[in-house]
Amino acid sequence: MPETTDVFEIIRTTRAMRRLKPDPVPDALIRKIIQAGVCAPNGGNTQRWRFLVVKDQAIKKKVQVWYKKAFDEVVGPRYLKSSPPPGVTKDAYVRQHAAVEYLTDHFHEAPVWIVACIEEAAAPTRWSGASIYPAVQNMLLAARALGLGATLTTRHLLYEKEAEAALGLPPGVHSYAIVPIGYPMGKFGPVGRGPLKEVVYEDQWGRPFLGGETSS
Ligand SMILES: Cc1cc2nc3c(=O)[nH]c(=O)nc-3n(C[C@H](O)[C@H](O)[C@H](O)COP(=O)(O)O)c2cc1C
Repeated sequence: MPETTDVFEIIRTTRAMRRLKPDPVPDALIRKIIQAGVCAPNGGNTQRWRFLVVKDQAIKKKVQVWYKKAFDEVVGPRYLKSSPPPGVTKDAYVRQHAAVEYLTDHFHEAPVWIVACIEEAAAPTRWSGASIYPAVQNMLLAARALGLGATLTTRHLLYEKEAEAALGLPPGVHSYAIVPIGYPMGKFGPVGRGPLKEVVYEDQWGRPFLGGETSS
């Protein structure tokens, strides 16, 4: 169950929840999550988003094979060479890596996936992404508010054709994220990010924005 309904607290504590219990998630909650998703802004309000709810273990397993292959070939080796991002301790980074590997091995065991797609004839652009990821973020927040864990994942795109074929997407439909959802084994948040002054500038690129410091 959520410990809060405060939107800022929900945002602050919505982290990637990669260790999920296999217990089924009621359809009513999935519907509530997607309903939150489609409240998001999208270009021209054209609503070209489509969402595939996947519960079938055989389909998920077929995709997981590509997801794992991409980990073994690209993501795993890259992790070993990289240092912790801003706001993340070495220990937390090592824990994150272990969680990423865990999700890789158990991807298909998440009780439900929501695959966020866009139906578009033309090649994807930045506008395409801008019209689907707000919906994905709304769904992550809604899941967290309902006490469900979720993670925005895109790694299957390293094997896009193969993964989309396994998902049975028709021509002209592209996937932008697979969001595995389930009841979390661990606790929510807080997220680790760097200080605002390193990424927010005022009037001139590189001049830190320091306004309202106590409330940021
Ligand atoms: C564009 C994008 C792609 C991502 N792809 C994956 C993924 O394929 N697998 C995964 O485990 N996490 C994925 N993530 C989650 C990030 O790794 C996660 O948000 C980041 O490590 C911060 O973790 P936190 O939100 O728990 O603080 C993705 C996030 C974004 C925004």
